[in-house]
Amino acid sequence: MTQRALISVAFALTLACGPAADEADEAVSAGGAESALVASPADPHSFSRPEEVVVRHLELDLKLDFEAKRIHGTAALGIEKTTAADQLWLDTRGLEIERVALGDGSAETTFTLTDELPTFGRGLAIDLEPGTERVVIDYVTDPGAEAVQWLSPAQTAGGEHPFLFTQSQAILARTWVPIQDTPGVRFTYEATVQAPPGLMAVMSAENPTERSADGRYTFAMPQAIPSYLLALAVGDLEFRAMGPRTGVYAEPAVVEAAAWEFAETEAMMDATEALYGPYRWGRYDILVLPPSFPFGGMENPRLTFATPTIIAGDRSLVALVAHELAHSWSGNLVTNATWNDFWLNEGFTSYIENRIMEAVEGPEYAEMLRSLSLQDLESEIEELGAESADTHLFLNLAGRNPDDGMNSVAYDKGAALLRLLEETAGREAFDAFLLDYFERLAYQSTDTGGFVAALKDALPDAAAAVDLDAWIYGPGLPDNFPKPESGAFGAVEAELARWREGEAAAARLDTAGWTTHEWLHFLRTLPAGLSGEQLAELDAAFGFTAAGNAEIQAAWFEVAIRDGYAPAFDALEEFLIQVGRRKFLKPLYTELAKTEEGLSWATEVYAKARPGYHSVSTNTIDDILGWTAR
Ligand code: BES
Ligand code: ZN
Repeated sequence: MTQRALISVAFALTLACGPAADEADEAVSAGGAESALVASPADPHSFSRPEEVVVRHLELDLKLDFEAKRIHGTAALGIEKTTAADQLWLDTRGLEIERVALGDGSAETTFTLTDELPTFGRGLAIDLEPGTERVVIDYVTDPGAEAVQWLSPAQTAGGEHPFLFTQSQAILARTWVPIQDTPGVRFTYEATVQAPPGLMAVMSAENPTERSADGRYTFAMPQAIPSYLLALAVGDLEFRAMGPRTGVYAEPAVVEAAAWEFAETEAMMDATEALYGPYRWGRYDILVLPPSFPFGGMENPRLTFATPTIIAGDRSLVALVAHELAHSWSGNLVTNATWNDFWLNEGFTSYIENRIMEAVEGPEYAEMLRSLSLQDLESEIEELGAESADTHLFLNLAGRNPDDGMNSVAYDKGAALLRLLEETAGREAFDAFLLDYFERLAYQSTDTGGFVAALKDALPDAAAAVDLDAWIYGPGLPDNFPKPESGAFGAVEAELARWREGEAAAARLDTAGWTTHEWLHFLRTLPAGLSGEQLAELDAAFGFTAAGNAEIQAAWFEVAIRDGYAPAFDALEEFLIQVGRRKFLKPLYTELAKTEEGLSWATEVYAKARPGYHSVSTNTIDDILGWTAR
């Protein structure tokens, strides 16, 4: 390719992927013959062109330098050409590309990088020979690589060893591996990882259960996965089996509690298989990370990554395990083709999560979870605005960081649509449809149109009855939203009313047998404007400030901030410094930022807490607080 053409590609890509996507379309169509050089419009978040040359296999060799916070990597890519194209296009971000070679790695080749785009990074175009089947890239990651968090010993439960974990979804894999970073491409992989001796490395692959003496580990992942499911963690880890196919990895101080908390996992697997067909990934293990992990859970194949904040001591938060396990069908097996179709991953998964919880805990429990999910959805829609395009199921995230458009609408509105379809078609028919859908599309990606077509084909009457267009391409909550029975929390509301009306002191309320969910409902329905005395009474009766349960603590802190309950603020500060889970941080910092005093307190705490957060969380909180580097 000529230099001129390359520059033109880089320019067109800059526009196509940048914030000005509309202008890009014009520039591209005005570009005449050269418009053919522009990356496929299939995935607006990737520079790759899998329709020309596609990656089928990855061999990774990684050396971890904890001192310098760098990974020295070699990525050998097995590729397949479907056209006469003479370049392989990959995504990179912050990677220093040291050398690229073809075949066995001895024949060096030339390559070009596009200009750097914020969020998307740089496209890497590698020149190929006619028969090239393998490309070998030597590279180094940046210490600020967004996928990777390097933890100091102080950030771990044991306090003695460093820890590392990656988070690739949605488009962060490119910050630690040069790859076609789009959910539309799948590849198998193998890896060798050199970790500090004494620590254990685990990946989204077949994993060791014992430490190696020299810190060297090899991995194989025989099932093809998209790049966002590439994952690695290294730390002072131990393994405990739970069932024949399930186990936990965690730091020694945590592993026992984790194995107890997640003991129902094997039963959840059996329940899911009975509904949607065989589990196709071999083992299902759970890795419990240090509290800075920015998500509740991440469905890395064979090894779900999880926050320690779901270890409540009473198994009350294991719906999260059901959720990540459900992704073994919806998401990991049948994958959203682009991030605009994110609801296909998360809406299906949230629906299946609820079916698993129904199978394991019974229909009333599942109903209660649906009530909480409806509350989440209503407040999310209120926050986004009922007419906001971000409340559509099918999103338009072109030119944006997909992370900014991913909210609970995909989860809760998506799950509600599937619930409505289930109620309309009948459970038996709908279950048969999903079973067949997973069977036919296993190990493939599909988009919203693909789902609609499959549904219309299999269940035409139900598809016609629900107004799919309003649900998928329209805003807010459609009128035929399937409402959960409101009775789930009736007892909680009755007790709260007794307290508010002065019939009973807090300590005399009947809260026996309440689980985390009842407490969450109680805290969420407390009216605003309670006095310091009232809050102190609740706190003394129920120990919210010092609760061992992070969900309850976080919900209480929201109340404490809203009503200015000072005695909770020391614990709140400690919580904000300890816990990096974005779902908790976002509402707390948002509530704090509502007043000048709160904002200034929050900014001070954030200055201490921020170095311990993952980039996923700092990106969100920086915006809320208007944080600029100091
Ligand atoms: N895949 C998601 C996490 C995710 C979404 C990472 C988008 C990056 C971008 C995971 O399955 C998830 O949904 N986690 C939830 C838990 C769940 C029970 C709703 C979370 O972390 O809160
Ligand atoms: Zn999910």
